[in-house]
Amino acid sequence: MMTKEQVIKVLKNVNSPEAEEIFNKADQIREKIFKDEVHLRAIIEISNYCVKDCLYCGLNRENKKLKRYRMEREEILKAAEKASNFGFKTIVIQSGEDPSISSDFIGEIIAKIKEDFDVAVTLSLGERKFEDFLKWKEIGADRYLLKFETSDLNLYQKSHPSLKVASNKRIEILKNLKEIGYEAGSGIMVGIPFQTYESLAEDLMLISELDLDMIAIGPYIPHKETAFSHDLEKIEIKEIERTTLLLISLARILNPTANIPSTTALSVLDPKEGRAMGLKCGANVVMPDLTPEPYKSMYEIYDGKTKSKEWDEEEQKKLHQMLKEIGRKPSLKKGFRISRQN
Ligand code: 5AD
Repeated sequence: MMTKEQVIKVLKNVNSPEAEEIFNKADQIREKIFKDEVHLRAIIEISNYCVKDCLYCGLNRENKKLKRYRMEREEILKAAEKASNFGFKTIVIQSGEDPSISSDFIGEIIAKIKEDFDVAVTLSLGERKFEDFLKWKEIGADRYLLKFETSDLNLYQKSHPSLKVASNKRIEILKNLKEIGYEAGSGIMVGIPFQTYESLAEDLMLISELDLDMIAIGPYIPHKETAFSHDLEKIEIKEIERTTLLLISLARILNPTANIPSTTALSVLDPKEGRAMGLKCGANVVMPDLTPEPYKSMYEIYDGKTKSKEWDEEEQKKLHQMLKEIGRKPSLKKGFRISRQN
């Protein structure tokens, strides 16, 4: 076990021999648990409306330049069918925090997807009422993603100016989600303005303490229509890409059986290598964007996110080719968390 001070030290020295050892150890653990299998999860971004004020995120409610959309039921089901036909065994229903999407609407989508396709359903819809979580679970949802973003409550408040006290509800919500039977996923951003090395080390400890089934760690990428894009000189974290990779490795070492994606933001920051690098540093999951156009281009969380093209045979081939090049293959299973007894 590393102490907090040791974690901070290695995060500040991402090119040290100690860091190299961590990268290697994480890859070994990943291989021991998952062999060469990579779980592919298809994301469908059903709405980019958002009531939140996150200063780092392009979907935040203050961004009046963004054209907003909500997908229709039939459009969502068509995208799900496409994902299933491409062989995806998990469908992730994601959106901005959009309370105008009724819990019944989501319930019907879950029911229909579970009825028509042999897939797991993951929800990523932000903070909702406990009854909604319960209802969706009963209908058949399998997993819920809710990033706590940072464990530093002052930084969380600073990046959400309407919060009256330094707090983060999401940590409590994650515990509830687990209790009612969801596989729960959470994670953080690396390199947001005002974030410290110490808080990253604490994030890592919180991630492990929560015993998450899925852990997503991604680099911060500025979005020009957000307040934080004017505070880039306040970024303390150096070498954000490598620091992200190192945190993925540490998360793998501390959480051997968790499903850990090579995050989309990594692949946007480094279009050529990012995704493969994540997979080589301990990640075992890739989550491609299956949102149809014109919506895909409107889900602009950070600059550059919407540049990739709509999912098709060619994109699928490129992904499979990349996996092959690094000695991996797509899993044919739904990819639930391996029981800890194994
Ligand atoms: N850079 C990287 N990731 C971001 N997110 C939001 N804004 C950014 C950004 N600028 C991530 C957060 C959030 C999700 C919607 O996307 O982790 O939970």
